[in-house]
Amino acid sequence: MTISAVILAAGKGTRMKSTRAKVLHKLAGKPLLQHVVDTAEMLAPRNITVIYGHDGEAVQSGIEGDTLCWIEQKDQKGTGHAVAQALPNIKADEKVLILYGDVPLISKASLDELIALCPEQGVSLLTIKLPNPSGYGRIIRNQENQVIGIVEQKDANAEQLLIDEINTGIFCVTGSLLQRWLPSLENNNAQGEYYLTDIIALAAKEDVPVFACHPESAEEVEGINNRRQLAHLERAYQLNVANELMDAGVTLSDPTRLDVRGNVSIASDVEIDINVIFEGTVEVATGVVIGPNCVLKNCSLGEGVVIKANTVIEDAVIEKDCVIGPFARIRPKTVLAEGVKIGNFVETKKSNIGKGSKVSHLSYIGDAEIGENANIGAGTITCNYDGVNKFKTEIGDGAFIGSNTCLIAPVKVGVNATTGAGSAINKDVADNQLSIARGKQRNIESWKRPQKIKQD
Ligand code: UD1
Ligand code: CA
Repeated sequence: MTISAVILAAGKGTRMKSTRAKVLHKLAGKPLLQHVVDTAEMLAPRNITVIYGHDGEAVQSGIEGDTLCWIEQKDQKGTGHAVAQALPNIKADEKVLILYGDVPLISKASLDELIALCPEQGVSLLTIKLPNPSGYGRIIRNQENQVIGIVEQKDANAEQLLIDEINTGIFCVTGSLLQRWLPSLENNNAQGEYYLTDIIALAAKEDVPVFACHPESAEEVEGINNRRQLAHLERAYQLNVANELMDAGVTLSDPTRLDVRGNVSIASDVEIDINVIFEGTVEVATGVVIGPNCVLKNCSLGEGVVIKANTVIEDAVIEKDCVIGPFARIRPKTVLAEGVKIGNFVETKKSNIGKGSKVSHLSYIGDAEIGENANIGAGTITCNYDGVNKFKTEIGDGAFIGSNTCLIAPVKVGVNATTGAGSAINKDVADNQLSIARGKQRNIESWKRPQKIKQD
């Protein structure tokens, strides 16, 4: 049987106190709804229908997916009414998975189990026992322990309120059953809504099988209604990632001070100090040491690389045994070959720096091609921009660039060439040459310092 997914995301999210739609708020750097879409896509569904209500344009442009269909629910008349909007996208002979856009951490494993549990003609639902079930729909079971209904908090009697097994809201239902049941739902309940949960009583009445299973952790089914819950779930997610990394052989100075906003692949025997943020896709090879307060985005770090405190790296390739920082900024399209050393207050951008070369202090290297074993002195600046266009600087193997050299691009400094400190180099320097381009020093004898003028 094919699967199609329906994600409910029409709720307003008033308690977020935000002008942005709730499902666009981010967890681990990714919109809540995107988490649900990505997990649903792992199940290879025929399609995914998102039921949206507010901010349709912003929500649609903020979410990516190959099989997404968007349907607006103009008035939020309840979860049953919401799923009914998706009926045109649902086939009779498939399993329909119902998810919430504000329950971001539902796992593929739980959904696989839920789908497998759903009979060809029937219903499966995800339930969980909570120490404090207040606010949730309660699961009603008969003497044979079969699920026969769900009662919402507001409709429950005193006895039902004591039930601690709750409805997570996540269901799998045969399409034909939804086609038959949804149009017949009524809204004669405490909230005047069309409850999706009422389909359980309909199933019980018709002897349609209903099976329940449970997620591995409560966080998987936690919904987000306010920013406290968002922060709580963020920390839960991050701790989970930290635990997985530690289990895979990564040393974390403090697992509560690591943030992964994307996908990391970190080899064993990597050491990560506090307050490190990973974004996008980051690959870290074995033996890497990352100091405190570093931000690493879309980059790869080769074996044995050392990143010292307060370094920011984005869209870069760092080959093995490089040493970077503290306080370095490695910007997009930087490629550092094996054993390069980048020191404090050095910025690089769109540059290749060859094996063993050093840029140790206070430099800007942009649009540059630097050979192997070159030494770039403190304060060297590649003047790559004339205010309109960008130009390239080329520096040969073994070159020695004196401190405070301005390299006015386009310009080439040859193999083993040297520039004198303080030079402004705007003409090419051939291999092995020394180039000095600075005012000549004059020493003036018997010069008198100015005297303080007397005021009356
Ligand atoms: C719902 C369930 C309850 C369950 C709880 C789990 C019903 C009647 N109740 O209650 O049993 O314990 O979720 O969190 O189903 N939505 C729409 N359109 C609507 C109404 C809701 O898209 O017209 C979406 C919301 O954006 C949200 C989800 O459906 O993502 C759940 O809605 P919510 O109002 O939070 O349901 P609850 O009353 O909490
Ligand atoms: Ca809710």
